[in-house]
Amino acid sequence: MKNIIENGINEEDFDFENRIVSSSPTVGDGEEVTLRPKTLDEYVGQMKVKENLRVYMQAAKNRGEGLEHVLLYGPPGLGKTTLSAIIATEMGVNLRVTSGPAIERPGDLVALLTNLSEHDILFIDEIHRLPRTVEEVLYPAMEDYQVDIIIGKGPAARSIRMSLPHFTLIGATTRAGQLSTPLRDRFGMIFKLELYTPEELSQIVRRSAGILSTPISEDGCLEIASRSRGTPRIANRFLRRVRDFAQVMGNGEVDRQIADYALRSLEVDELGLDAVDRKMLMTIIKAFGGGPVGLETLAATVGEESITIEDVYEPYLMQIGFLNRTPRGRCVTPLAYEHLGVALPGSGGGGNGGNGGSQTGLFDE
Ligand SMILES: Nc1ncnc2c1ncn2[C@@H]1O[C@H](COP(=O)(O)OP(=O)(O)O)[C@@H](O)[C@H]1O
Ligand SMILES: [Mg+2]
Repeated sequence: MKNIIENGINEEDFDFENRIVSSSPTVGDGEEVTLRPKTLDEYVGQMKVKENLRVYMQAAKNRGEGLEHVLLYGPPGLGKTTLSAIIATEMGVNLRVTSGPAIERPGDLVALLTNLSEHDILFIDEIHRLPRTVEEVLYPAMEDYQVDIIIGKGPAARSIRMSLPHFTLIGATTRAGQLSTPLRDRFGMIFKLELYTPEELSQIVRRSAGILSTPISEDGCLEIASRSRGTPRIANRFLRRVRDFAQVMGNGEVDRQIADYALRSLEVDELGLDAVDRKMLMTIIKAFGGGPVGLETLAATVGEESITIEDVYEPYLMQIGFLNRTPRGRCVTPLAYEHLGVALPGSGGGGNGGNGGSQTGLFDE
């Protein structure tokens, strides 16, 4: 705990990897497995996706067929892996899990495919990172349930066609736009997962607290939820941190006050922004007059890959209305100025420092 508070958020550079608000799995997220909902009913939110999936799964079952190939996309931590496991459970089939970067050669994919049983699900995480040569094997596999394999070497080599079981591919990606068109076209269903509302996250926190046997009040749930950036993975991580504080500093029960205290100690403000978010916004304000600033320039200035900024940091900042994407670049909105306690250019008066005054002074050496 101490370690995270002191070192997790490093003011010297942008330590994106170890952020407490990171939406990717970090050390200590091991309990994630126990917190994963197992059925569609337990899976909170994403109403449209669930409704559609229910229909398609029932229809496939009625026909005695496997499910069509499914593509799930959206920012990290929103429940793509969880949903694919739920689909396998609800369809009553086996799930094989792999990821784009793990399948290096076409032979790796062929081995995976030929070991599947009828209607099994193959889950490929980060499918946008599949090597092109592997992707080409996937096309006929998805479309005709066939692969061509080369036997032998040199002049004696010949290609034979092998039939595959009727499997279902579930692909997950943070960016559907990076998939090649032929691959995208071979999915029967494409679902976009959305950021969760505080109410939905609150429901998730309450459920997780139950599994972790942590007493929690209603306003405790909502306090954690409203600071979790629309992301279940972050909500569950905050809950574990807050639980630690409640056990050491209180009577073990999580309420609004202890949640607020714990998250403040982790430098997560009331909207879920951490030092890195505030610094990124301040960079745009101080170095680029609030924007517009091009994504590449911004990435170079804060020392982060543009893809990470686009996929991981911007969705939430845009959802809460702090950042706009314009054709000329990224702009910080007046709302963000107000939150950071910075005067709008040309508005004369100083910012009222509204929120967390001490946290906003990062650039005021
Ligand atoms: N709809 C949901 N309802 C309840 N918990 C969820 C939901 N979506 C995600 N979670 C929780 O968030 C964690 C991260 O979800 P995961 O499926 O690993 O996200 P992704 O694969 O999109 O990065 C899971 O361990 C799960 O506990
Ligand atoms: Mg995942």
